Amino acid sequence: MFKSYRNMLLSAVVVAAASTTLFAGSDASRTYANGKKVIDGGSTYPVKKGMTSLYHVNEKAHKTSFKLGRSATKDEINAWNIDVMPDGTGLPEGHGTVEEGDALYDEKCSSCHADFGTGGAGYPALQKGNAYEGQKSLTNQRVDGNDEGPIRVFGTYWPHASTLWWYIKTGMPHPHPMSLTDNEVYALCAYIVSINEIKIDGEELDDDYELNRKKFLKIVMPNKDGFIPKIDGKNGVENARKFFNDFKNYGNGTRCMKNCFKGKPVLARISGTGISDYQPPISEKKELPKKKAGGAAEHPGKKVYDASCAVCHGTDAMGAPMLGDKKAWAPRIKQGMDTLYDHAIHGLNGMPPKGGTSLPDAKIKEVVDYMVSKAK
Ligand code: HEC
Ligand code: HEC
Repeated sequence: MFKSYRNMLLSAVVVAAASTTLFAGSDASRTYANGKKVIDGGSTYPVKKGMTSLYHVNEKAHKTSFKLGRSATKDEINAWNIDVMPDGTGLPEGHGTVEEGDALYDEKCSSCHADFGTGGAGYPALQKGNAYEGQKSLTNQRVDGNDEGPIRVFGTYWPHASTLWWYIKTGMPHPHPMSLTDNEVYALCAYIVSINEIKIDGEELDDDYELNRKKFLKIVMPNKDGFIPKIDGKNGVENARKFFNDFKNYGNGTRCMKNCFKGKPVLARISGTGISDYQPPISEKKELPKKKAGGAAEHPGKKVYDASCAVCHGTDAMGAPMLGDKKAWAPRIKQGMDTLYDHAIHGLNGMPPKGGTSLPDAKIKEVVDYMVSKAK
């Protein structure tokens, strides 16, 4: 998971760089492999006339440049190019107590992850009680839909604590990544480890417990050895082959091409949640809805809303007026459009300026128009 998230961050930098100069680092082994230029980590492309084929855009060949921003500076790239590895590579010095983490958590995280990390609608839980107990097994985590496997939260699932440090530092709080100091990240990690009831060196983490780099590296995650098959190490390929050759290890344990379901097919994911009273109820129809001929065009504000505002306005869980909730919007609309625009652009309490985006004012106004249109 963390690999792909990191790649996502890096690809954002790549877009900013808008050229391949990003990869022309001092580390030659990274730039060249087997005489070919390495472009995106894993893939290699043949070099022609000193340039990488297929992938390469030669801006100089164009009379006018693409004018897509500017190249990211070395410092900008370094600022985001953070790895924190299980062996401590990339983990800086620092310290923070459980108590400090608790206060920070209440201030910066609980609005989404809920009190004590129990998770909210659409936001992952950060603990499910004692990480050593409360489930059948910590092994066989690779088998999807297997209720013998671990509950998929940090304490019960993640094999390395280093990912937690890295994830919080580079990705959280969601609207303001990279805003936390190293000490704050240590404090938050201390708090999250404590609510998962994970011990460090046999010691429980009480409020006064101060986490630092040395102690952090002593954290042994309960699910450290739970990743079956073991795909690392010299027997990795063999292990994986053996595991996947035995079809009892995955799916419903039988190979089949037709009449695979006995009785009514169930959606594993939905049935697994234990929730059955969805409103509106889940459709049992299998065909796609028919396209309406000449239906109304999509509102111009909808795209931005979906991408940048729905995270908070899609529910009323965080005090944001929910899209389409007429009652919640009525008193706000009464203030007049100018006030609504102003609050959306400059922020209001839990409403971050421009919803945390850096879009032009006109775009934000368009989205407000869309939200208001849905509340009428
Ligand atoms: C505005 C909402 C929001 C806030 C505030 C927020 N988070 Fe998150 N957090 C998310 C979302 C959404 C995800 C899931 C992201 C994904 O899976 O791509 C997430 C994921 C995480 C995860 C990974 C959980 C997992 O099991 O995959 C951790 C750890 C985490 N957040 C910690 C924090 C901490 C610590 C803070 C406070 C400093 C914080 N978050 C503040 C929305 C938020
Ligand atoms: C991090 C969560 C969050 C995001 C993201 C967010 N909002 Fe909000 N928004 C809120 C909250 C909370 C309120 C209620 C604030 C209050 O009344 O104290 C609010 C209120 C508003 C209001 C009503 C203001 C008023 O005067 O009553 C508008 C309009 C609005 N948001 C527009 C947007 C738009 C447009 C976006 C996306 C570009 C957006 N919001 C993204 C949390 C968010």
